[in-house]
Amino acid sequence: MFTLDADIPEPLRPLAWLLGRWEGVGVVGYPTIESAHFGQEVEVTHDGRSFLKWESRAWILDSENGARVRPAAVESGFWRPVGGGEVELLLAHPTGIVELYYGSVEPAKIQLRTDGVLRSPGAKEYNAASRMYGLVNSQLLWVMDMAAVGQELQSHLSATLKRVG
Ligand code: HEM
Repeated sequence: MFTLDADIPEPLRPLAWLLGRWEGVGVVGYPTIESAHFGQEVEVTHDGRSFLKWESRAWILDSENGARVRPAAVESGFWRPVGGGEVELLLAHPTGIVELYYGSVEPAKIQLRTDGVLRSPGAKEYNAASRMYGLVNSQLLWVMDMAAVGQELQSHLSATLKRVG
C-alpha cells in the first residue's frame, strides 16, 4: 500500500500520488498510423528537492499473445509544482522532441497542455499536445492528444497502469 512519505517536500504533496513504479497497457492510434496495443513502465522518484523525476518506456505488443514486439516511446523528464495548484512537466524524447507542459493538479487528476515544443531538424512535425493523468481505483489512467503531421489535436493514446512498487 502506498503511503505518504514524511520526507516528501511540502510542494510535492499534491503530486505524491504519482510516486512509485507503474506498469500496464494501452492503445495507440492516429489517423496516419495503424492502431496497436502497447505496454508501458513508468518510474517516478524524488530526491528530497521539489521536483519529481519521470522515466517512461513503452513497447508495442503483439495483439494475439501480448508479447513485446519492439520498443516504442521513451521519455524522460521532470514534474515541477509551481504553487497554486499548477505544475510544469518538462519531457525529452529520443525522437528529437523536447516539450514543456503546463497545467493544473487536483487530488487525483492532472490536466496538461503544451506550452512549448522544440523539434530537432530531423524530428517529425509535432506541434502541440494535451495530457490527462488520473488516479482511479488505485490505477493510473492517462490519455494523450496530439497535433502532429498535419493533423488537428486529437487522441494518440490511452493507457491504464498499476502500481508495482
Ligand atoms: C507510450 C507512449 C507512446 C506510444 C506507445 C507511441 C506509439 C506510436 C506508434 C506505434 C506510432 C507509429 C509509428 C511507429 O510505429 O513508430 C507513433 C507515431 C507517432 N507518435 Fe507516438 N507513441 C507514444 C507517445 C508519443 C509522444 C509522447 C509523442 C510526442 C512527443 C508522440 C508522437 C508521435 C508522432 C509525431 C508520430 C508520427 C505519426 C505519423 O508519422 O503519422 N508519440 N507513436
